[in-house]
Amino acid sequence: MTNISERSFFVRTFGCQMNKHDAERVSGMLASCGMIPVDTTADADVVVFLTCCVRENAEERLRGTVASLKALKSVRPGVQIAVGGCIGQRDGETLLESLPHVDVVFGTHNVARLPYLLDLATQQDVPVVEVLDGAEDFVTDLPSERMHPWHAWLPIMVGCDNYCTYCIVPYVRGPERSRSMESIAAEARSLVADGVREITLLGQNVNSYGRDLYGKTRFAEVLRSVAESGIDRVRFATSHPKDLSSETIATMRDTPQVCRALHLPVQSGSNAVLERMNRRYDRQHYLGLVEELYAAMPDLALSTDIIVGFPGETDEDFEQTMDLLRAMQVDQAFTFIYSPREGTAAASMGGLISREIAQERFDRLVQEVQASAQRKNDMLLGTVQRVLVEGPSKRDEMQLAGRSDGNKVVHAPVSLNTSAESLAGTFVDVEITAAHKWFLSGLMIS
Ligand code: 5AD
Ligand code: SF4
Repeated sequence: MTNISERSFFVRTFGCQMNKHDAERVSGMLASCGMIPVDTTADADVVVFLTCCVRENAEERLRGTVASLKALKSVRPGVQIAVGGCIGQRDGETLLESLPHVDVVFGTHNVARLPYLLDLATQQDVPVVEVLDGAEDFVTDLPSERMHPWHAWLPIMVGCDNYCTYCIVPYVRGPERSRSMESIAAEARSLVADGVREITLLGQNVNSYGRDLYGKTRFAEVLRSVAESGIDRVRFATSHPKDLSSETIATMRDTPQVCRALHLPVQSGSNAVLERMNRRYDRQHYLGLVEELYAAMPDLALSTDIIVGFPGETDEDFEQTMDLLRAMQVDQAFTFIYSPREGTAAASMGGLISREIAQERFDRLVQEVQASAQRKNDMLLGTVQRVLVEGPSKRDEMQLAGRSDGNKVVHAPVSLNTSAESLAGTFVDVEITAAHKWFLSGLMIS
């Protein structure tokens, strides 16, 4: 691997979990080149951004942050800035027009080349841009510096074939490509041997895993095989309602290692809007899934994504979304105001909704999500939750903070002779005594 000397680096991500995983790989690669990780941009010789262009606000935040580093570069001219991920992939060379002080632009398919590109930029003293149209191979065997030693992201597929009309992802992440069952199982086993307790399987649409490789979806098999690796917990994201199968639901129910937590983006409760979004299911199908899921797992934690203000969304359409949201009993929902993305089909649809109306709908949605989250958490009062400890709570170091099977943050006091830090990466049982909107509190019983 290229030697880029003992310089320091800082990696910052915007957007989805795939970027967080890429950030761990970038950190691993740069550390294996002898570079030193630091916690702030001010201390770094190399600043790497893994970017997101799914919505405009993530993009604006990235641009603002990179622009503000111009001052750092004028004080320390040797500092290098690298911009990768989805914005790098989409903009390539043109990114340098608005951000000329960037040194390296790379895309979503060539993360592994970053050390080489940084080196090249140093040698040539001009910005280097490398964006590939598609990956030749699923590169998996890169070193990784995990943020938490007990948790690993494990990509099982990349890309997306769905072309929802609002979404830029298929254009920047390419078509769906699955990794082989064997290589997923082997990586899971090696992560377990390395002390990992929880694995999150990643893919834009994990439910269609295997279709490109095996001619049929094999996601339920992946779940079972990763569960057999010796791992304590398996999570996965993201699911598409059109591809979530009864076999997968039954596998979640029957496999103790698989968390009873599901992120199932619905986007809208109106059939007319779902159709214009090209989601390829309707509200009846979605409600049928919700019913099947709760019948199989009454304790399931369900989360979703919802977009308001999609072109042409009427008051009636929005009421349908509110109605569906109430029926779903979500534990969490990520809510977004529609943001037109150049190049997508929806960007040229008429019927744009005014900012005020979209905001009004958004606010009503958020209120309902919060009420629903509180109701779901109230149902956990008195239950015992198995919690994977992350460390001390930020508010009080005498309290541990961790995550339940349903992915809820749980706080509990630790006894005087233990520290929350020393419990990090272990499982404890907590009896829930207080339920808040976004976290639970309780007492450790083991
Ligand atoms: N505008 C608003 N929200 C969007 N999402 C994706 N594209 C857009 C867009 N153009 C949301 C969807 C998706 C989540 C990751 O981001 O809800 O599930
Ligand atoms: Fe985007 Fe739709 Fe693919 Fe999800 S399934 S990444 S929303 S195109």
